[in-house]
Amino acid sequence: MKNLTDISELIKNCTNCELSLTRTNAVPGEGFFQSKIMLIGEAPGSFEDNSGKPFVGASGKLLTKLLNSIGLSRDDVFITNIVKCRPPNNRDPSPNEINQCSPYLSKQIELINPTLIITLGRHSLSYFAPKTPISKAHGTIINQSGYTIYPTYHPAAALRQIRFHETLSEEFQRIPSLIKSLNK
Ligand code: URA
Repeated sequence: MKNLTDISELIKNCTNCELSLTRTNAVPGEGFFQSKIMLIGEAPGSFEDNSGKPFVGASGKLLTKLLNSIGLSRDDVFITNIVKCRPPNNRDPSPNEINQCSPYLSKQIELINPTLIITLGRHSLSYFAPKTPISKAHGTIINQSGYTIYPTYHPAAALRQIRFHETLSEEFQRIPSLIKSLNK
């Protein structure tokens, strides 16, 4: 059976879709393999493509602050994306690209087996709950395929609009008690 390091190596060398032709680096994800919390964004941007690490640009800096605000560091959680390579000009990933990439995410989720999956933004939410709008789902719990999903706004949205920032911060504050209640 493949472990998380094997999966990362497969992702780094993946040529399953056309995003492999334009990427600098694939971005498998990083963090604590036994974490109770997995955070899943949409796709790498330019900073992530350059470094091979998830959420290291402006959104990533906000994400790190939000984690710190609830006593967590990036090393306490596992951070990844639905799609592991940057779509050119940050366009939305196509349904085919998502389909080609999703077996990697499924395997990462299966191996980490998190107590809570936090989806960051509407694209990540729609992977798990395609018909649920983020305007309704953010800050609620969705149970799906044996996993507990906690959708939030994307940090990039929070950087653009103060009301999303406030909501995102409040919803992060609820994570420790959610984890406690789920561990009971
Ligand atoms: N936005 C995302 O959705 N993922 C990243 O890794 C960076 C920015």
